[in-house]
Amino acid sequence: MTATETIKEEEILATEEPVEEMPQPRRSIAFIGSECYPFVKTGGLGDVMYALPKALIKQNCDVKVILPRYACIPEKFQEKMVYVGAFNMDLCSDGRSYYVGIMEYVWDGVVYDFIDNEEFFSWGKPYTNLVDDIPKFCYFSKAALAALNYMNWTPDIIHCHDWQAALVPVFLNAFFRNTQLANSKSILTIHNLRFQGIYNIPTFKYWTNLPDYMFDYSVLKQGYEDANMLKGGLACCDMITTVSNTYAGEIQTDFFGEKLDAHLRYHNGKLRGIVNGIDCDIWDANTDKLLAANYTAENAIEEKKKNKLALQKSLGLEENADKMVIGLISRLTNQKGLDLITQIFPALIDGNTQVVVLGTGDKEYEDAFRYYENEYKGTVCSNIMYDEGRAHMIYAGSDALLVPSLFEPCGLTQLIAMRYGTVPIVRETGGLKDTVEPYNIYENSGNGFTFDRYESGLLLDAINRAKTLYFENREGWDQMVVRDMEKDVSWQNSAKQYRDIYLQLKP
Ligand code: ADP
Ligand code: GLC
Repeated sequence: MTATETIKEEEILATEEPVEEMPQPRRSIAFIGSECYPFVKTGGLGDVMYALPKALIKQNCDVKVILPRYACIPEKFQEKMVYVGAFNMDLCSDGRSYYVGIMEYVWDGVVYDFIDNEEFFSWGKPYTNLVDDIPKFCYFSKAALAALNYMNWTPDIIHCHDWQAALVPVFLNAFFRNTQLANSKSILTIHNLRFQGIYNIPTFKYWTNLPDYMFDYSVLKQGYEDANMLKGGLACCDMITTVSNTYAGEIQTDFFGEKLDAHLRYHNGKLRGIVNGIDCDIWDANTDKLLAANYTAENAIEEKKKNKLALQKSLGLEENADKMVIGLISRLTNQKGLDLITQIFPALIDGNTQVVVLGTGDKEYEDAFRYYENEYKGTVCSNIMYDEGRAHMIYAGSDALLVPSLFEPCGLTQLIAMRYGTVPIVRETGGLKDTVEPYNIYENSGNGFTFDRYESGLLLDAINRAKTLYFENREGWDQMVVRDMEKDVSWQNSAKQYRDIYLQLKP
């Protein structure tokens, strides 16, 4: 050993923090999806596309995230993007080709490559209607692969997300096996099986120019005249994952299978469930700048009250820290179990409870929550809007959070709630079942309140059990708040599981 090597070794031994060794070997991963926080987010997919690559970097993965360059991405990001190059790509069956620009932005160790094309991405929002969205995501899926070749970057794994990127494995198998992507493996992650990208076959044939064998029943074809992008991706990819173990089982049944249960059962040898985590830097009550008072598990009981009072004040609710505040942060669609809530709403109001809603979506739910705000002024506040800042305040200032979903692939709001010491009240489905351990009165254990069948009476019962603990055994409640804050909801474990799959596919 040389002298310099000895010194280096001594220096390493002298450092206080143990240096975590990177797992070997290094792997390169292309993430392809339609949204990613903070550029564009409509729901949990955006959170995952941001947080999982960050966690994978710590697992010795080299990650490039490929996204559409929507016009709605805020200017502060647009202006930092650097032009990488551009080319023309064949797409349609009549030989029509399209411009593909690549704009790059590197942040926190992750490389973001935005596919630029004014014709497809100039709308004010990422999704509009199927007539426009089908061509948009046919183009995007092929352009993402072509961009990898153009950049001369050959990933070990191409990891695609939801129906918008589901044609990637199909294009990969049909058109890219004689390029440098020949040996790249593909993974398709299902974040929500409800959305699949279904349209008639002639339209798909025009926009993809895929060979006829891809329109076989075993791949893209569905029913008599339709093609289904998600179905084709599931058939062509090397591995399917979804965002919780329970949902991986549920989607193979008729009720949750959204007409793809038989297809998923057929492919279940390559299907795995890996539960989502959350980004613990963004969601940290101790450093969150949007809160009235920062807190940790040690001082949460006192400091959460300050957040509650600040929330009540800003929303025009009666300012009283003794009231139990129940929050709901959700897309307002029938997936989220809102029918159960509206059926029992008046029974929630008891003089000691306040309800805060934050969400946008279907008119019937928006109207129902507006109605209840009007009916119970000072006790109920319905924020019919999408507002990140307000979400942070509600997570911190509420005592409990409702997530009574009809189905829930994973769900992130219950994870964020727990991290902020807010007790989740959830239905035992999908990821809710896998992440919220029910309160056990005898052992004083668990993280929240749960119910099983999709019935409003059972939701009311779960809420009443929460109220009983809150109002009659505050010590027991406070212990649950601390347990929730100490629960590991980070990405670390799950990122390791993704890494294991990457290695399994490409040793
Ligand atoms: P889904 O993806 O099905 O909508 P998730 O629970 O996985 O459900 O993720 C929802 C994400 O969107 C969370 O980060 C949540 O805080 C956020 N969110 C939902 N509605 C709103 C809203 N109205 N304002 C701000 N954030 C919201
Ligand atoms: C979907 C699901 C949600 C999940 C999210 C991120 O939007 O509805 O349950 O948490 O994707 O995977």
